[in-house]
Amino acid sequence: MKRIIVTDDIFKTAADRFADLARTAINARGRFDVARAGGTTPKSLYRMLASEPHRLKIDWAKVFFFFGDERFVPFNDPKSNFRMADESLFRPLGIAESQIFRWPTEEPNPASIAERYATSIASHFAAQSTDCPRFDLVLLGLGEDGHTASLFPETAALAEFTATTLACFVEKLGAWRFSLTFPLINRARTVIFLVSGEKKADVVRDVFDPDHSVSAIPARGVESDDLLFLIDRPAARLIDPEKLNENSAA
Ligand code: 6PG
Repeated sequence: MKRIIVTDDIFKTAADRFADLARTAINARGRFDVARAGGTTPKSLYRMLASEPHRLKIDWAKVFFFFGDERFVPFNDPKSNFRMADESLFRPLGIAESQIFRWPTEEPNPASIAERYATSIASHFAAQSTDCPRFDLVLLGLGEDGHTASLFPETAALAEFTATTLACFVEKLGAWRFSLTFPLINRARTVIFLVSGEKKADVVRDVFDPDHSVSAIPARGVESDDLLFLIDRPAARLIDPEKLNENSAA
């Protein structure tokens, strides 16, 4: 089910949803496996989760953190998604290293980084009988060009339907990127997009426009039994009102 919530309070809405999903997963399976989004938008969410009241609502010792994508930089580089998470959430909450699975970007070879990360995901989920690991939650952002995680338009990454992770040289960035693939993202029990700001209005309109291909707007390739778009008003201003009616959530 695809739902759209337009609200200026996307971070509180996301934090409440995160706490609910964590409680449900921990009650059902004893842990909460989440793949976090990178970029700048989710920083406010992570800070909210690390503050009261949300920090008190979640049994953090049973939350396991993965990364939807990462840049090819050292883990303490200002551009690193791990570093952003470490500063905004892991350190403030005292999350144990054993609960954090970062991409091993200290490795020199991009392909081996992706392979090693796929292995660490597989071994974490090994106890589950399913063939493909299943996150309880994948948090995603949305780039102005329609990319999500590090699945960029017109790249080979969009055609990866076997591996769970990949390394991709993104020409437009002139840089390597690492990402979970569509199969792994789309297996998640819940996927939440967190989108904020006037600059995203055009791409948000395109995400909901069936005339745009996944190759052009990779975020359109994300599916889930529980797919929620949390979008603030400036970013939502160009959405076709019909789309909002079809998919709006309470
Ligand atoms: C990354 C992200 C990427 C991000 C979008 C939106 O590593 O950059 O994972 O997919 O979510 O680019 O980024 P902002 O939130 O900074 O706009």
